[in-house]
Amino acid sequence: MKEEILNQRNIYDKAYSNDLCRDYLNQPFFKIIQKRYIDPMIKPKCLNIGCGCKAIKDSINVDISFNALLQSRHINGKYVQADAYNLPFKNNSFDLIISMFCLHHISKIEIVANQIFRLLKKGGTFFAFEEFIPESRWFDFWGLSFLKKKQKKFYKEKINLSHNRHYLKTIEENKKAFNKFVLNAETVVVEYMPTRFYSYEWAFIVSDLLQKIGFKKNRGRFLILKAKKRL
Ligand SMILES: C[S@@+](CC[C@H](N)C(=O)[O-])C[C@H]1O[C@@H](n2cnc3c(N)ncnc32)[C@H](O)[C@@H]1O
Repeated sequence: MKEEILNQRNIYDKAYSNDLCRDYLNQPFFKIIQKRYIDPMIKPKCLNIGCGCKAIKDSINVDISFNALLQSRHINGKYVQADAYNLPFKNNSFDLIISMFCLHHISKIEIVANQIFRLLKKGGTFFAFEEFIPESRWFDFWGLSFLKKKQKKFYKEKINLSHNRHYLKTIEENKKAFNKFVLNAETVVVEYMPTRFYSYEWAFIVSDLLQKIGFKKNRGRFLILKAKKRL
């Protein structure tokens, strides 16, 4: 676990030391998430785990990477460099905890789920937006080997790193980790590919290729997990 955390810190310190993340913030995909989901649910005490460069206003934003926090600090809020496995906050202290696309970098998701459970106030809510292993290969464009190769090359050339390790889970595995919460999981189809990755210049080429083999244009899915701590 220690190696995993150091590895993530190293990768994202490099990733957030260049301008790629600025493009990333302007993506239509992220604006949909912000407007449709985040803005309506903001509560007085909110924690954002693995914020990257997407800090949430007036919230406590946590990331293992210091450079991620530097990139997002123009947004009014608090910033804490910490590890999701060991969050330095008091029990029952948050109304809302959000995590966007961080859980797939976590190998032992149950430990993080326990942290989230500990930190939420009774009646508090947890929202995760995640990538996942789809039920059918039909949606699994990240499982396609030519895409994996492209991604590997991108990491090497842009941030001089070997491929970022992902611990993708199925919907059921994600749900199981949060089973002591009241839980609801839905998959949402939005405009996703290539806009989520539009700083990768190859994303548009890949999108065209995917259409040729039957994927819908610019469409993809992500998973929303919603868990509520019982009163
Ligand atoms: C794919 S990025 C997502 C960032 C942002 N939430 C977004 O949606 O663009 C994953 C983030 O999780 C952070 N991260 C990975 N492992 C972590 C851990 N164990 N504790 C805290 N943050 C972690 C990384 O530093 C990175 O900023």
